[in-house]
Amino acid sequence: MIDLQQIAQGRDGYELLAAQLEALLADERDFIANAAQFAALLFHELEGLNWAGFYLARSEELVLGPFQGKVACVRIPFARGVCGAAARTRQTQRIEDVHAFPGHIACDSASNSELVVPLVKEGRLIGVLDLDSPSLARFSAQDQVGIEELVAIFLRLSDC
Ligand code: SME
Repeated sequence: MIDLQQIAQGRDGYELLAAQLEALLADERDFIANAAQFAALLFHELEGLNWAGFYLARSEELVLGPFQGKVACVRIPFARGVCGAAARTRQTQRIEDVHAFPGHIACDSASNSELVVPLVKEGRLIGVLDLDSPSLARFSAQDQVGIEELVAIFLRLSDC
């Protein structure tokens, strides 16, 4: 059976999103403005998300940044949650079932899977990009690669 979501968000889907992001950020380098645009692009173009946005590194905690979705937790210590793990390890966290993740912070009880990509520029941790979905195992390895490439474009085109 043809999986339409796979086509929409397969390799071609992410190439299209990368071109859209490049165009969207081409004339602006302000970090907050670009982060807000990036969150909106992801939230509205990717299927099956209930939250897309940023947490920014402030000392040893993450503070809520631009996002799309329901109101969320404002401060997350590096020691806690999926976002904290991404910040602490500087490794993408692709979690198929957040309820099985020790210390997961349930900002929205509808969330079941999560992808959190650390934002690292010239060795500095800027924050994390957090994507949440009500579907279990929403994010594939291909989604991870695609989103990491989008994050690299965002960091290259934004002052931070
Ligand atoms: N679930 C995240 C917290 C952020 S919200 O999902 C927007 C976590 O465990 O880090």
